[in-house]
Amino acid sequence: MSKLQDYTYKNKSIEVRTRTIEDYKIFLEAYNSLAPSQRKYDKGFEDMTFATKDWFEAKVKLWDSLAARDVAYLFGIFRLSDGKMVGYCDLATQYREDYQIGMVGYAVFNPYWENGYAKEAVETMIHIGFNLLGYHRLEAHINLDNEISKKVVLSSGFKFEGIREKYIRENDVWTDHEVYILINPKDSKS
Ligand SMILES: CC(C)(COP(=O)(O)OP(=O)(O)OC[C@H]1O[C@@H](n2cnc3c(N)ncnc32)[C@H](O)[C@@H]1OP(=O)(O)O)[C@@H](O)C(=O)NCCC(=O)NCCS
Repeated sequence: MSKLQDYTYKNKSIEVRTRTIEDYKIFLEAYNSLAPSQRKYDKGFEDMTFATKDWFEAKVKLWDSLAARDVAYLFGIFRLSDGKMVGYCDLATQYREDYQIGMVGYAVFNPYWENGYAKEAVETMIHIGFNLLGYHRLEAHINLDNEISKKVVLSSGFKFEGIREKYIRENDVWTDHEVYILINPKDSKS
């Protein structure tokens, strides 16, 4: 499987695709249009003056190299109507060999919430993860109090599997996470 293939995938209102150096202006506009953090887990506005074109080019190279090594696939979420970047999402390989597990992550920027974009992005990652990257199982790891994120995965077909205790180190604390899973339908009978 070629890791630097084009993963662009369109849904109803958004497309999910890898970012290139040509996206620099769109990327900066997106971050500069953020409102301050609206709730827990929303990073909100941050000063992006450090984000020069050279910085962005290095980021794009890093993202490409992570994909080439099958470590992680980092995408922008772009709105089809005007090309704005409304968020980002990723698929990260957890294990290959006899497991074939990928993990999904996503964030929609706060000016664009509640338009169904996160749900559409997760649907596209399900397609990319199962049909292009060959994962058998997708997992989402969600903080116990992130109720909206749980709705995103549940309405995209994931089911609650359980709680992994002290699973991820966040802000210097090992935190519990709820795990939501989706099995590749191609594998459900074997
Ligand atoms: C969580 C997040 C991605 C949701 O993005 P979004 O584009 O607003 O979500 P959607 O519009 O696709 O809505 C998905 C579901 O959540 C529900 N939802 C969204 N915002 C909600 C709110 N403020 N209150 C209640 N439900 C809400 C929607 O009704 C929908 O549920 P349904 O399909 O059962 O009707 C976004 O709030 C975000 O980026 N938060 C910060 C980062 C984060 O938490 N990332 C996830 C880490 S695991």
